[in-house]
Amino acid sequence: MGVWSRRAVLAGLVASPVLAAACVSGAVRKAPPDGESQGGASDGPGPAGYRRLPVPPLAESRTENGVRWFDLEARPGIASIVPGKSTPTWGYSQDILGPTLRARTGETVGVQVRNGLPEATSVHWHGMHLPARFDGGPHQPIEPGAVWEPSWTVAQPAATLWYHPHPHGTTQLHTYRGLAGLFLVDDGTGADTGLPHEYGVDDLPVIVQDKKLNTDGTLDERDDAGTGLIGPTVTTNGITGAYVPVTTDRVRLRILNASTMRVYELGLDDNSEFEMVASDGGLLAAPVRLRRLALTPGERAEIVVAMQAGRPRTLRSFPAPLPARKGRGPSGGAALSEEFELLLLNPDAELRTAPATPSKLAAIPPPVTAAAVARTFALDGNTINGRPMDMNRIDATATVDVPEIWTVRNTHNRVHNFHVHDNHFQVLDVNGSPPPPELAGWKDTVSVPPSGSVRLAVVFRDYTDPQSPYMFHCHLMRHEDDGMMGQFLVVEPGHPAG
Ligand code: C2O
Ligand code: CU
Ligand code: CU
Repeated sequence: MGVWSRRAVLAGLVASPVLAAACVSGAVRKAPPDGESQGGASDGPGPAGYRRLPVPPLAESRTENGVRWFDLEARPGIASIVPGKSTPTWGYSQDILGPTLRARTGETVGVQVRNGLPEATSVHWHGMHLPARFDGGPHQPIEPGAVWEPSWTVAQPAATLWYHPHPHGTTQLHTYRGLAGLFLVDDGTGADTGLPHEYGVDDLPVIVQDKKLNTDGTLDERDDAGTGLIGPTVTTNGITGAYVPVTTDRVRLRILNASTMRVYELGLDDNSEFEMVASDGGLLAAPVRLRRLALTPGERAEIVVAMQAGRPRTLRSFPAPLPARKGRGPSGGAALSEEFELLLLNPDAELRTAPATPSKLAAIPPPVTAAAVARTFALDGNTINGRPMDMNRIDATATVDVPEIWTVRNTHNRVHNFHVHDNHFQVLDVNGSPPPPELAGWKDTVSVPPSGSVRLAVVFRDYTDPQSPYMFHCHLMRHEDDGMMGQFLVVEPGHPAG
């Protein structure tokens, strides 16, 4: 068994050597094994001025006693974020970002996380339904040199999740330095079989982060203005100026906003339509045709872009929503002032035909609202409900399986979003109106319009624990570090709730 097929077996979900070959990180790609060459322009040099999109490798794993174990090491590195400059960064088992973890619903997974950094960090599995003591929030710090071994059974539908640091007060800095990676869940239901699914070929991770670089290439980490770490250098999978060769007439992009503060208003350079097929928690009920899509920090979207031979297209972030979208964007219609090129999709001279996107994707049940417990959370720009995060204070105690409706108000005139750990929620309304289709699937992070509100329906299932809390917070990382965060417990019936 060659190295590629062994990697494929280890990864468990990799079907072909071509696919495995695409998992090599970095601009240089190893030749596929004999007879597997893809041919065409995808093997040639890229367009001038661009570098090939690094595709994070699928993490290897080993199965011991029925548990699929992954290894991650948070460690310092040196990355080439912009051509010709070396930037000291942090990454998971690589210089910047991290490998893509991938597992199936029903599988028991474990991750050996080693902290090779000079200070404590933590690793949170954003979007994962798992016991609070393995959630990787501020209560599970990993000291330098220490190893943390969370383990859980994947119990949720196929989705694009991610992992990132969540240490108390330093989440922004650690993430900005490059600590972020994807965790893909597959569920084997076949619901998404019509979608492009060859990882690194027609199913591409697109992790977007912005940086501010000093002239010597080092990261500018000054955050004096209190606005958070935000910079003009927007990276895709860790580099600027990324292109990817496209070999099929449809590509699926799994886009993650891993920026600390920046909101993106995504679209194609010619303003043409793309299909959104999944949001944070998995597939939507049906594809949604969009020209623009807003993503606030922490949110994910899977989109399918149609391609034609000889017609490159570019994924961009636009300065403001299209006029028709005014008031619905994350900024509530306020201009986002800047425009960025995120990824050049560069098609071969001939494209393989990919199946059309199915007209129905997932069965999304109506939100459970009967007999729901109601809670209100006011984001005032500094705190939630006037109380800054206190690791020794529990802000809410939910009873397992009892539906809850959370009204989240943004009492500030700036963008905030709201993220809930553990179970995904459904958006009941945004400023009193039913959610647009792109927000109508399972979500874990949602934009709360300036001086506006959202109502969320959530049911916390399983994993009761009267000791270990989960978090809810604004995912603009400077804000969460500053205290726009609270804690909740999930308890058994009979345990005092509140
Ligand atoms: Cu992505 Cu509490 O975080
Ligand atoms: Cu989270
Ligand atoms: Cu905020």
